[in-house]
Amino acid sequence: MSQAEGVQDAKVYLPSEATVAAAAVSGMAAYEKLCAQAEADYEGFWAGHARELLTWKTPFTKVLNEENAPFFKWFEDGTLNASYNCLDRNVERGLGDKTAIIFEADGGEVTKVTYSELLAKTCQIANGLRSLGVGKGDRVIIYIAMSVDGVAAMQACARIGATHSVVFGGFSAQSLRDRIEDTGAKAVITADCQVRGGKKLPLKAIVDEALTLGGCDSVQKVLVVNRADAAVTMAEGRDVWMADVVASQPTTCEPEWVDAEHPLFLLYTSGSTGKPKGVQHSTGGYLLHAALTCKWTFDLKADDVFWCTADIGWVTGHTYITYGPLALGGTEIVFEGVPTYPDAGRFWKMIQDHKVSVFYTAPTAIRSLIKAAEANDAVHPKSYDLSSLRILGSVGEPINPAAWEWYHLHVGGGRCPIVDTFWQTETGGHMITPLPGATPLVPGSCTLPFPGIQFAVVDETGTELPWGKGGILVCKKPWPSMIRTIWGDPERFKKSYYPEDFKGQLYLAGDGAIRDAKTGYFTITGRIDDVLNVSGHRMGTMEIESALVSCTELVAEAAVVGRPDETTGEAVCAFVVLKRPAPTGEEAKAIAKILRDHVGKEIGPIAKPKDIRFGDNLPKTRSGKIMRRLLRSLAKGESITQDTSTLENPAILGQLGQTY
Ligand code: PRX
Repeated sequence: MSQAEGVQDAKVYLPSEATVAAAAVSGMAAYEKLCAQAEADYEGFWAGHARELLTWKTPFTKVLNEENAPFFKWFEDGTLNASYNCLDRNVERGLGDKTAIIFEADGGEVTKVTYSELLAKTCQIANGLRSLGVGKGDRVIIYIAMSVDGVAAMQACARIGATHSVVFGGFSAQSLRDRIEDTGAKAVITADCQVRGGKKLPLKAIVDEALTLGGCDSVQKVLVVNRADAAVTMAEGRDVWMADVVASQPTTCEPEWVDAEHPLFLLYTSGSTGKPKGVQHSTGGYLLHAALTCKWTFDLKADDVFWCTADIGWVTGHTYITYGPLALGGTEIVFEGVPTYPDAGRFWKMIQDHKVSVFYTAPTAIRSLIKAAEANDAVHPKSYDLSSLRILGSVGEPINPAAWEWYHLHVGGGRCPIVDTFWQTETGGHMITPLPGATPLVPGSCTLPFPGIQFAVVDETGTELPWGKGGILVCKKPWPSMIRTIWGDPERFKKSYYPEDFKGQLYLAGDGAIRDAKTGYFTITGRIDDVLNVSGHRMGTMEIESALVSCTELVAEAAVVGRPDETTGEAVCAFVVLKRPAPTGEEAKAIAKILRDHVGKEIGPIAKPKDIRFGDNLPKTRSGKIMRRLLRSLAKGESITQDTSTLENPAILGQLGQTY
């Protein structure tokens, strides 16, 4: 029985005949054929696509090098340039006048940028960076909001072989400092401010603060884009306006041809222990998967208007804004604002105005827009013409079937397949996902691995489990766009992703999963480590605990757990022991606010705990271990059925019941 035929019990959505006929991967037989090709000749499969989709300066002769596993190398003797592949090559193909980016600002102003213009802008920034002494192998931090400048800055770094590390504009000065120090960045690219929901929020001032926190001596230059004439202080000799840097620069710039393994970017993400880790991605393998997934998962065609709503500060924005769609010569939207400004119809209006055909967003956004639409017809998708849509996508967290059905019916008009794409910062691109013109869809399941990707569900010993049994999600083979290492910490890379428990042979995703007993469809059951996913943002519980405990005048001890949340997927719940008796009432509220602001300052507003509970102690075993399972139950508001007899201090459970 083929996998498609087996989907019979769950509610199944089949792609329409027209969708199948037009799709790059047309029908399940085509999908299965691709999988079989990869199975039969793994290296040949990837090499073929790498030759077809990318333009190489020096063609590669080696495909996969496993000698120093798990530090795998792909296409190692080939050379190329990512920016050449995304820009020049499209201009050379006659797409110079095609719109590359439709930029819509927070206030609604629209700017269209052609491939020729984006190339010219990128070249000027690249030349500007070179004139300031930035070149191949240097690291550049980019701390800027969604903008054409942001995309061009990333492309410019790629052009000169500098490794970029984008820091999401919602991170604090402290988080920015940590990333500057860890990367040893030579330059920082930022803007005076960002504009979100009608408000100007500072960026340059946060860079200034970060640079005073110590450890940032590597930074020689700060380039500042003028977004909205916000007041900034410019340090003489260090800070320069981007406009001044690029003004006299030529609009052409010879790309730096780099080895396929050259680090294109570092992107920091949270793990279960320690500080965020700098995930290092390659140039060749990464770009291949970015392009191939755009071609197959999004079925991106010449006349599509693609919109990925993620921020360029996250991996989704890297792969599905800066690199993938441009590598294929697509037209895409870059949106500066927020989905609820000026009202919660913003996404639907933009889809209507720009005739968006492929739309990719996060379940959290959908869930919050459902709420708004149910309360007000004016912001309901039915009040807009969304007939241009043909494919919908979801990313970053599990999409619950109810939200899936609503998205399918009200946004997709019942006719657009939803690709629920499972992947991670470390994987570079989609790993488990439906293909729109092939895969029968089951709401809540990310279905089957992308062709060539070999995921499995195993037990603690690494033995593959039969379908129907939940376990640990692993990838059995290296793939081109995989994480290469953790910047500066190869041991942590090995330990985190290729643990000894699995003899260093399996890539550990950090998620649990179960495959449907009949179809083999994957459903992700959530993280198996101490990583939380709040609104699709990944955070380590330990990071938030450290941030709380760093409020030394108030906090003695803190434990953080996640709890399910209707809108944000998960919410941060902090249990805090103060250096004084547990407060109640107004005093507790006031202290909770101080602690939230403190976490906002240490990490960023996204990490602020939603719930804070105070106790004179935390529930611990007699050996002093915090009973996190118990805390999770308390956070969920469940009645405690677990055995609390081993608890050192059962009385504090009552105290921890009140949320502030
Ligand atoms: O837990 C999984 C969840 O998000 C984690 C990866 O987070 P991050 O590296 O920030 O990348 C997010 C964007 C790719 C995964 O380990 N996750 C991501 N996509 C899905 C998902 N969980 C369920 N379904 C998904 N489609």
